[in-house]
Amino acid sequence: MVLPLHDNLSRLEEMRRESIQGGGDDRIAAQHQRGKLTARERIDLLLDAGSFEEFDTLKTGRGGSLGEDDHHYPGDGVVTGHGTIDGREVFVFSQDFTVIGGSLGEAHSQKISKVMDHAVRVGSPIIGLNDSGGARIQEGVDALAAYGEIFHRNVEASGVVPQISCIMGPCAGGAVYSPAMTDFTFMVENSSNMFVTGPNVVKTVIHQDITAEELGGAQVHGAVSGVAHFVIPNDILCLREVRRLINFLPSNNRQKSPFLDLRDPPERTDPALDYLIPPNPNQTYDMNILIYSILDGAEFLEIQANYARNIICGFGRMGGQTIGLVANQPAVLAGVLDSNASTKAARFVRFCDTFNIPLICLVDVPGFMPGPEQEHGGIIRHGAKLLYAFIEATVPRITVIVRKAYGGAYLVMNSKHIHCDINYAWPTAEIAVLGPRGAVEVIYRKEIKESKNPDATMAEKMEHYRKAFVNPFLAAKRGYIDDVIFPRDTRHRLIRTLQFLESKKTHRPDRKHGNIPL
Ligand code: HXC
Repeated sequence: MVLPLHDNLSRLEEMRRESIQGGGDDRIAAQHQRGKLTARERIDLLLDAGSFEEFDTLKTGRGGSLGEDDHHYPGDGVVTGHGTIDGREVFVFSQDFTVIGGSLGEAHSQKISKVMDHAVRVGSPIIGLNDSGGARIQEGVDALAAYGEIFHRNVEASGVVPQISCIMGPCAGGAVYSPAMTDFTFMVENSSNMFVTGPNVVKTVIHQDITAEELGGAQVHGAVSGVAHFVIPNDILCLREVRRLINFLPSNNRQKSPFLDLRDPPERTDPALDYLIPPNPNQTYDMNILIYSILDGAEFLEIQANYARNIICGFGRMGGQTIGLVANQPAVLAGVLDSNASTKAARFVRFCDTFNIPLICLVDVPGFMPGPEQEHGGIIRHGAKLLYAFIEATVPRITVIVRKAYGGAYLVMNSKHIHCDINYAWPTAEIAVLGPRGAVEVIYRKEIKESKNPDATMAEKMEHYRKAFVNPFLAAKRGYIDDVIFPRDTRHRLIRTLQFLESKKTHRPDRKHGNIPL
């Protein structure tokens, strides 16, 4: 005789088997054929081996309104639960494209909402692996309501726990706005796309032929729109990079990032840095040389590496502590600040501030990008975002001016005047209102025009200006620079500064929230 209990045990086994099977062998094979892993294979690679604990394995929807009420989909197209990454708890949802295209209906959304709620309650990151046909058409307005629940939670969790999205398949329509509100978006090359309206709608409305890849593929969002923070060749590498990112971050806004000693001596000097800046001020060099030299173990995780490449943002460690690094890149557009660079850096600065990550700013900026394209595109609004973000940040803020620091861009790039904690300059720093040519053309215009030899007068005035202003010493005399340092000592000075700033406290008046110029 089979006892009811035993009956239920085998029923449970059966139901679990069905859920784990997802959409069945054929759909799993189709997923693999596209170079995509299944929802569960992705979770296995993301989390520490054997650490995944699933919720709602047996949850199904109520059925839709097209007469298929009796049809329940195993797990309702999403796998949810928690596990660890290098021993630290994270919550995860992974959409299962093999089950009704990973489409999102009421039950699917409730499963995601549950893990998001837990993540906020216990203070652990939430990672979403997106692979979905969007709102489940059969569920009508219930599916739209279901998205609203997730959007709401994205905002509630923002600035409380890190939120990470991986786009590993389609992500279309309003669905894109959930990843867009998370902190970091990964996209997998050739298998993911994101757009508000797909190629068919584009064809109907504006009569343009365009492929999904051209419209919203990983490369486009990595280099043109800036929607993707990381573009990764395949699922396996993508999940590995998520683990790497998590290791730089604290679990929530009450904690600091985990300390990791890479055995790189804090006092290590790099004499080659004394020769990094070329003698000719118009010559470029690669800021990455400085970045990789000063960070622990030369380990740097760059964000939006192919977007607005004139500014570099990313995470590294100094003396074992995670830092957020913002640096002008003189090798791209001479390191000028434009609208895209400003918004890219502003969002990064705000992330670091929210999650207690000290900021280090390496400056070589000739100014803001001139021209109608930038002005009409709102560089005033966008530049103001970066200014606002730095001023708003209460984490330790340190600046090193390595070469150019001109005009408004000097101020915006975490200068003393907007209350950075400590700023250093290399002897090669140039801190002034304008560069020599621009300045001389304004203040000696008449004299040059009336001169018998305008070129010689111009050269003479520029030389004079250079001697007077193109150095860090005037700023140092005023105390606007805390010290002029030898380039070779930069790492050591920064680590010592980070150490003493660790207990920094800033008090701000109470307010609901500021009004950043969006
Ligand atoms: C229900 C869906 C679905 C959806 C896919 N499927 N999307 N079922 N609702 N939104 C089902 C398909 O019927 C199919 O079921 C299975 O998933 C796989 O889909 P295929 O079309 O065979 O796969 P593929 O050829 O790879 O194409 C994938 C796709 C396409 C590009 C995503 O399925 C598609 O265009 N789907 C609709 C996308 C869409 O318009 N979604 C609504 C977006 S608006 P069977 O049983 O045949 O295997 C939106 C609004 C959000 O999401 C609102 C937020 C406010």
